Amino acid sequence: MKILVTYISMSGRNEKIAKHLATYLENKAEVDLEQMVDADAYSIPEYDAVVVVTYTYGDGQVPDEAQDFYEDLLDVDLEKTKFAVLGSSSKTHIHYGRAVDYFTMQLNSANGDQVADSVKINEDPDEDDMKRVERLGDYVIKSIE
Ligand SMILES: Cc1cc2nc3c(=O)[nH]c(=O)nc-3n(C[C@H](O)[C@H](O)[C@H](O)COP(=O)(O)O)c2cc1C
Repeated sequence: MKILVTYISMSGRNEKIAKHLATYLENKAEVDLEQMVDADAYSIPEYDAVVVVTYTYGDGQVPDEAQDFYEDLLDVDLEKTKFAVLGSSSKTHIHYGRAVDYFTMQLNSANGDQVADSVKINEDPDEDDMKRVERLGDYVIKSIE
């Protein structure tokens, strides 16, 4: 079982979330943890599952540095790929966590199989948030066992 966890993080929150998730999953599967700027969307079919961790920028947008990966997703056949999306953003903005929604739609449009509800975390993840992250991880594992 092989899982790609790819993240985009400006001030470190989503990096922390992605690392927590990767460590949690490593007990149960082989995990590649990659920054989204280094990740290749075309490699996703090599994995059983992909998890995207993203912040939201601008006026409810996918971060600029994540755009290439985001757009490439539509050129990849994700028919056999399970996926989940999560991320820290901020409720101080009107379009709270909208990039999580965009990635969820994009991966669904690319025929991926969503195996957990997308998780939005407000700013710094607390203990309860990390439990939600782990629960998402459990659903990913269960889907590929
Ligand atoms: C200029 C700017 C614009 C932002 N726009 C949004 C937004 O539209 N919606 C939202 O939910 N969060 C928005 N955020 C909040 C970030 O997504 C949030 O701080 C996130 O936790 C950053 O994650 P990181 O620490 O991994 O970089 C914005 C932050 C900045 C600095």
